[in-house]
Amino acid sequence: MRRIVVTSALPYANGDIHIGHLVEYVQTDFWVRFQKMRGNECVYVCADDTHGTPVMIRARKEGIAPEELIARAHDAHLKDFTDFQIAFDNYYTTNSPENKELSERIYKAAEAAGAITAKVSPQLYCEHCKMFLPDRYVKGICPKCGAANQYGDSCDKCGSTYGAEELSSPKCTTCGGTPVVKDSEHLYFELEPQHAYLENWIPGHTTSDVSNKLLEWFKEPLRGWCISRDAPYFGFEIPGHKGKFFYVWVDAPIGYIASLKNWCGKNGKKLEDYWPQGLAADSGNGAAAPELYHFIGKDIIRFHCLFWPGMLQTAGIKGPDKVFVHGFLTVNGEKMSKSKGTFVSARTYLDHLPPEALRYYYAAKLGGTVDDMDLNLADFVQRVNSDLVGKITNIASRGAQMLQKKLGGRLGTLDEEGRELVEQCQAAAETIAKFYEERKFNQAVVEICRLADLANGFFDRREPWKTVKTDLEATRTTLTAALNAFRLIAIYLKSILPVYADRAMRLFGEAEWTWESLGKVLENTSLGEYEYLAQRIDMKQVEAMIEAAKASNADSGEVSHESRASKNKDKGNAGKEHVQSPVASVEPLAPEVTFDDFCKLDLRVGVVKSCEVVPKSSKLLKFVLDAGTLGERTIFSGIRQSYPDPDVLVGKEVIFVANLAPRKMSVGVSEGMILFAGTPGESGGVLAPLAAAGGGARAT
Ligand code: MSP
Ligand code: ZN
Repeated sequence: MRRIVVTSALPYANGDIHIGHLVEYVQTDFWVRFQKMRGNECVYVCADDTHGTPVMIRARKEGIAPEELIARAHDAHLKDFTDFQIAFDNYYTTNSPENKELSERIYKAAEAAGAITAKVSPQLYCEHCKMFLPDRYVKGICPKCGAANQYGDSCDKCGSTYGAEELSSPKCTTCGGTPVVKDSEHLYFELEPQHAYLENWIPGHTTSDVSNKLLEWFKEPLRGWCISRDAPYFGFEIPGHKGKFFYVWVDAPIGYIASLKNWCGKNGKKLEDYWPQGLAADSGNGAAAPELYHFIGKDIIRFHCLFWPGMLQTAGIKGPDKVFVHGFLTVNGEKMSKSKGTFVSARTYLDHLPPEALRYYYAAKLGGTVDDMDLNLADFVQRVNSDLVGKITNIASRGAQMLQKKLGGRLGTLDEEGRELVEQCQAAAETIAKFYEERKFNQAVVEICRLADLANGFFDRREPWKTVKTDLEATRTTLTAALNAFRLIAIYLKSILPVYADRAMRLFGEAEWTWESLGKVLENTSLGEYEYLAQRIDMKQVEAMIEAAKASNADSGEVSHESRASKNKDKGNAGKEHVQSPVASVEPLAPEVTFDDFCKLDLRVGVVKSCEVVPKSSKLLKFVLDAGTLGERTIFSGIRQSYPDPDVLVGKEVIFVANLAPRKMSVGVSEGMILFAGTPGESGGVLAPLAAAGGGARAT
């Protein structure tokens, strides 16, 4: 059994969790859950990153203590994570006694090693706000190109970097006053003494794409890192330096250890056994040496692969075994944008869509590389519906419901073909395990979908919906194999979809699923009650989410930035109140209709005379049908995503509902509804698996 400690980066207390952050927390959670399923001891710790200027200023503006602000953020963050099924073993705060003590200890060790130096440098000071101004809290005219309104670290127009005191006509961004230049002494952590150590350390501790980039800096001497900030600053005061505080990036990574220490305290464990605080990795208690992994985004590599191992090395504390770096989230191919409504907070997402959908989609896209990852909203809807619902869940819903209704809910035994199917599913175990271990979640999903295809193929070949009328026991044999295959697929999915897997597990009447459960085959047992497992999602939900995100971003406050590293990070508004709607577990089917209901529909065939895109709508196509004796009909259908080139539809015969009440839409009146069918699982030309689209009707 391995002992593994895992962290995700600590989110700033200053902002809401958003769907970009979730790329990280969700993938860490996949990996941790996988390790636990494999029988390893794995501890997943995280915390809010609470210190720094933005929290201090926001608290001042709200007229509350920073402690109150960070307590509020902590609750909101933890609730968001929990609702996204992210299961930390400990979610702590950097503003803790453990972190203060550890930060002081690590700093003193660096001081004792001669790694701390002091330098006096000129800084901008605002007399009105009574504070030295961090780079992102001052704006002025670029000293190089003369562009107005530039931050104190670099110019957006010409790209040059400079010190804030070099700006012409600097202004404090908080009060608008003109700051003065004042000398201030600052403390630096010297990295150059560790040049050789770090140059050697980096390649073995992260992927080559990341390390090659980092090593470029090693051609020159490494510059010292400024680790102090002047009062007033929300953080820990530096021992022996009154009025100087640790820069937030000093105590933030130490917060990983502090959170683990806090977990150890609550669980009767010794920190030394989980994160050796002296360089001797063997604690002498016979347990395997703990492994330590950080998951981070590409914007904070410098802090985790340079300063952090440097600090730990100086203090004689074990460093990470690997730093796993991921890229940034884009939405529809672009950076998340507040005005476009693609900067979506976790809560806004949850108000409109189920967490499983995003977890599944992210898994399907994450390959363990530093490449950016795109959330294409149309693809998101399509993949969740066609793969998770139409392909995977369908096996269970068709199979279990038939077994329940016609066969007393009892599984029989496998015949030869059925056993072959089940064994094929079992044989994938080590391949899928390897993909999970290597964080190639996308490949794990491909493999899982391949198994679902096998199971569906088997199901369709055996036609249980026909045999159920003639041979009940043969049908039971078919369903036994299909449901066993589904069971294995659900076990494989458990790290990605834990709540879904729990529901599936209850269906099979089992109490726990681990990787070992894959070795089992269920025969001659009764199924539990069938609970709906996954819901189809609709582009309308996505659109409503985008509108809500636009609205909430429009009234969020100013965006604050602290370091150059955070320059490209948009920050939401911390602690805003949200009303949470319960995440409905909606059924995959609409309510049953009677034959009489069905007969009310007057279905006709029409020929598409013209089909064109509707300006300003990403969804709608405008059809004019030649409806024979009925004359011409104009119908708007929300299927543009499936037909990028609407011309291909001209001349085609379509079935449409001719007696649907005309519907007034903003773009015109829709006189009916066209039915579209598609192949389950096939992306591209059609909607899947069977969709009717039309004058605003729901597409299920
Ligand atoms: N507080 C620091 C981390 C300190 S770790 C000792 C921080 N916080 S953050 O809230 O800005 O980001 C937290 C994590 O989320 C980082 O790893 C960051 O890279 C990641 N992401 C933030 N926005 C993201 C996207 N848009 N896309 C993917 N990951 C993103 O940095
Ligand atoms: Zn000011």
